[in-house]
Amino acid sequence: MTFSVVVLAAGKGTRMKSVLPKVLHPIGGEPMVQRIINTAESLEASAVHLIYGHGAEQLKASLHGKAINWCLQAEQLGTGHAVMQAVEHINDNEDVMILVGDAPLIKAATLQRLMETKAHSDLALLTVNLDDPTGMGRIIREDNNIVAIVEHKDATEAQRAITEINTGMMMMAGSDLKRWLNALTNQNAQGEYYLTDVIAMAAAEGKTIQAAQPDSPVEVEGINNRVQLARLERTLQRWQAEELMMNGVTLADPERVDIRGSISTGQDVYIDINTVIKGKVTLGNNVHIGPNCILIDCDIADNAVIEANSIIEQASVGQHCSVGPYARLRPGTVMENKAKVGNFVEVKKARLGEGAKANHLTYLGDADIGANSNIGAGTITCNYDGVNKSKTLIGENAFIGSNSALVAPVEIGDGATVAAGSIITGKVPDEALAVARSKQRNIAGWQRPAKK
Ligand code: UD1
Ligand code: CA
Repeated sequence: MTFSVVVLAAGKGTRMKSVLPKVLHPIGGEPMVQRIINTAESLEASAVHLIYGHGAEQLKASLHGKAINWCLQAEQLGTGHAVMQAVEHINDNEDVMILVGDAPLIKAATLQRLMETKAHSDLALLTVNLDDPTGMGRIIREDNNIVAIVEHKDATEAQRAITEINTGMMMMAGSDLKRWLNALTNQNAQGEYYLTDVIAMAAAEGKTIQAAQPDSPVEVEGINNRVQLARLERTLQRWQAEELMMNGVTLADPERVDIRGSISTGQDVYIDINTVIKGKVTLGNNVHIGPNCILIDCDIADNAVIEANSIIEQASVGQHCSVGPYARLRPGTVMENKAKVGNFVEVKKARLGEGAKANHLTYLGDADIGANSNIGAGTITCNYDGVNKSKTLIGENAFIGSNSALVAPVEIGDGATVAAGSIITGKVPDEALAVARSKQRNIAGWQRPAKK
């Protein structure tokens, strides 16, 4: 049975006190509603009808998904009214799963359970029991059969004592949904078209209504303010940290690693405290990440060691490489196997060949450095003349003396040596020594100036 998903995301989210629509606030580095779209797509929903109201431009610029169908709810007249905005796109002979845009931790496995429940009933509801159900719609049962949902504001004292609540997530046939939505009214305490009123209609028609539960109530928790956002962020981070550990990664402290993207890891990876992962990061076997590192869209191969306080972005680090402490690899950096980048070295759009080293205090930009070359401390590739960027090409086994400036475009041959303190503006042939500095003069018996 094919099914489509309706995601309710038109609420303003006033309590976030933000210019950003609530559902775009990130959790795990991704807009909260994007996670729900991803989960729906992972279940192979035929379409995701996204009910939106505020911040259309921001939403359309930030969200992606091949199944998204944008449905504007210009005025927020209730959850039932929200679903009505998708009705014209829903087929009678498919099932419809309704999700809420501000409960981002819902798991695919739980929604699968909701689908299974729908498979052997006419209407499936996702419910949870809460110690404090205040504000929530209550599940009304007669002889254990679900017969209605009553909103908190409309509930009697006796109904308010019920702890089983509506999560807002449910599933039913498209044809049923359409018929019931047509019959909704807004005669209730809030003057809204309640989606929840369809439950009593289903019961009145003698439909079977069954409930499914998530593993944990946190999966269905909605976010209304930044306190709740922070709490769910920590929950998500804890889950991700546990998944990493179960995959064979040692975390120095699972509470102090943040994954704001996706990470894939080999065996026996070690990650020290305060590491931040963004975008898509791949770590090979035996990779060691020191404390306070930031890894963004990068690929780090087997046995590489990243020392403390290093930042690696859109770079690739080969096997047995060593980076840092305090290194910065910017976009376009490629370190081949066994290359080394040490402290206070910045690398941008540069390749370091196998075994090449830049151990201290260096800037390498727009450069290609051959295998086993050694870049001395304080070497700078002068790649920018104020208008254009130019390349520095260094061959294999070259030796660049400390504090040299390589004024690009410039080429240094295989096995060439540059004397310390040189300013290199022209080609250095293979195996040659280039000395490009003023010669030392010694003045014997030099008298220092005396105070007047
Ligand atoms: C709703 C349910 C309640 C349930 C609770 C779970 C109804 C009538 N009540 O309560 O039973 O316990 O969720 O959190 O359904 N939205 C729109 N357009 C609207 C109104 C809401 O898109 O016109 C969206 C909101 O952005 C939000 C979701 O629907 O993502 C739920 O709305 P919210 O106002 O938070 O839910 P309640 O009415 O409090
Ligand atoms: Ca409401």
